[in-house]
Amino acid sequence: MLSSAKLLCLTIAAALLSAARINAAPQQQTDPFAALQAQFQQQQLPALQKFCLDCHSTTAQQGDLDLEQFRSVADIRRNPVPWQRAVELLLQREMPPQEADHQPSTAERQKLTSWIQAVLAADARANAGDPGPVVLRRLNNAELTWAIRDLTGQTLTPASQFPVDSAAGEGFTNVGNALVLSPALIQKYLDAARDVADHAMLLPGRIQFSPSTTSRD
Ligand code: HEC
Repeated sequence: MLSSAKLLCLTIAAALLSAARINAAPQQQTDPFAALQAQFQQQQLPALQKFCLDCHSTTAQQGDLDLEQFRSVADIRRNPVPWQRAVELLLQREMPPQEADHQPSTAERQKLTSWIQAVLAADARANAGDPGPVVLRRLNNAELTWAIRDLTGQTLTPASQFPVDSAAGEGFTNVGNALVLSPALIQKYLDAARDVADHAMLLPGRIQFSPSTTSRD
């Protein structure tokens, strides 16, 4: 029985590993960003300096926002969230606030807004089809249960002694980052694999699984 237990541990480890994929290298981006970068240097950086940095510089940081740290299109692409917000506030004419020393003309506002939108859109296109970083993760309890059922053909409950999967912020229980594997859980995996292995029947030339664990089977 010991060897079949080992076999099952390996099978489960293989199932775990096949569920995990390593993030592929991001695609090379070239064209649109060179033009956007040139516009940044020539027009948008001076506009930001004039209309925004009085309050959103590295030293001022009103509303906890430092726009001065963004020195290139690449910087914006690394952290686009404040820029999505900036587009909203520019369109709603809430930024710059009324009390600001410099108010952009309608054309200036329009130019800055559409340039930010162009950067965000180009970034979204460049990342289309990329699910983002895919972490190495274990199966969640339901996935493990179904995997064992598929492997054994029996309705076994290998995860019955596992802690409940924690739901990540989004409320789902299959978010890779939340599916951690502690040393204690590894031990439970091994125990579960042993329990599953107890259902194994060594037949001439193959292994089959029985619903029960009596030796009569
Ligand atoms: C006179 C000062 C001033 C200027 C100039 C100014 N802002 Fe602001 N900004 C603020 C303040 C104050 C807040 C915080 C408002 C709040 O929390 O209600 C803020 C908030 C923001 C936020 C929201 C931050 C967040 O985390 O939600 C964004 C985005 C923003 N500003 C963008 C801009 C842009 C883009 C410009 C230039 C076009 C600009 N601001 C010009 C004072 C300024």
